[in-house]
Amino acid sequence: MTNEDIDQVIQIDEESFPNPWPKHSYFYEINENTNSRAWVMEIDSGDKKEIIAMAVLWLVLDEVHIGTIAVHPNYRGIGMGKIFLSEILENAFEEGVIKAYLEVRKSNEVAIHLYESMGFQIDGVRKEYYRDNREDALMMSCEI
Ligand SMILES: CC(C)(COP(=O)(O)OP(=O)(O)OC[C@H]1O[C@@H](n2cnc3c(N)ncnc32)[C@H](O)[C@@H]1OP(=O)(O)O)[C@@H](O)C(=O)NCCC(=O)NCCS
Repeated sequence: MTNEDIDQVIQIDEESFPNPWPKHSYFYEINENTNSRAWVMEIDSGDKKEIIAMAVLWLVLDEVHIGTIAVHPNYRGIGMGKIFLSEILENAFEEGVIKAYLEVRKSNEVAIHLYESMGFQIDGVRKEYYRDNREDALMMSCEI
């Protein structure tokens, strides 16, 4: 992800989550947070490039925390999320990461299915973790 990508990334964020990140958060993750790895997946159709997925991860020693990940609504359900997350985790592994962590809304069946299909397991629950509707978060992790 580069600064030029941020506007398209924000559109995906806004169409994916009730509490999207502000622009300055992406700017900070790309330019200032040295622990951060910010990724986009692009379709290149010759004359134009379209961002179809985005993610931000935080690396701490040999662990990575997935801060956010989303696929553009027009490209969901066709395997893009799985390819994107696999590539991202492979890259983290090449940087020495051996374990990945994330939180996911208890009701987010598609995301939970994606994570479980990639080997993540549920470690516990953070009660009322999400401020907008006080929904619980499932804590998930995976050896990579
Ligand atoms: C969660 C998300 C990233 C998944 O990306 P995606 O590209 O739609 O997922 P994929 O097409 O790669 O599918 C991954 C798995 O989920 C399953 N899946 C996809 N859409 C599904 C649906 N609507 N219902 C049930 N399962 C579904 C697929 O069958 C696949 O499992 P399989 O490999 O066992 O067949 C995407 O739906 C998204 O951006 N959602 C909104 C943001 C979000 O919730 N992010 C996660 C926050 S923790």
